[in-house]
Amino acid sequence: MNERQRAERLLVERSLSPELEAHCRSTALQAERLARRWGAAPDDAAVAGLLHDLCRELTRQEVLDLARKHGLEIDSIEEEYAVQLLHARVAAAEVAQAGFSPQVAEAIRRHTLGGPGMSVLDACLFVADATAPGRTWKGVDEVRRQATESLDDAVMVLARRDVARLRARGREPHPLMLALIEEQHGSPV
Ligand SMILES: [Fe+2]
Ligand SMILES: [Fe+2]
Repeated sequence: MNERQRAERLLVERSLSPELEAHCRSTALQAERLARRWGAAPDDAAVAGLLHDLCRELTRQEVLDLARKHGLEIDSIEEEYAVQLLHARVAAAEVAQAGFSPQVAEAIRRHTLGGPGMSVLDACLFVADATAPGRTWKGVDEVRRQATESLDDAVMVLARRDVARLRARGREPHPLMLALIEEQHGSPV
């Protein structure tokens, strides 16, 4: 069985909702496309896409319990928004434990917050998650187009969008998200 088949099996075993399973498959498709365009391994991108939201439908308590089981140190923002943010790191730990490659686990780990020093594979998954077929937010077509011209620009637009949305709701963005933007622009946002 190859890695994609193993990923398929794990995805199906976890019995996600049909909507989330469809999102995982469309993210895999988009991540693979971006990987071919930008020179990451297409198989890794597809596997990361299939498995990135493996823990997205767990309860807050389940996510926190898994984080503890895997020995993850979590900060206060991750604890407060465990389901929204920590599902990424918890899925990465599960995927690593299931024997998938460290680069696949790393891309999954970074798919919610991003961060400085992202690999091309990390960036492909980060952008694919937000621009996969089925995503319909305002401006998504523009970012899809942008992602074919500059992966970094697409990452930046998405990170800035996340920061703006959080601040509009009176929430301070996670430092990793700010560090990702600072890395490219050399100044705080
Ligand atoms: Fe996610
Ligand atoms: Fe996702």
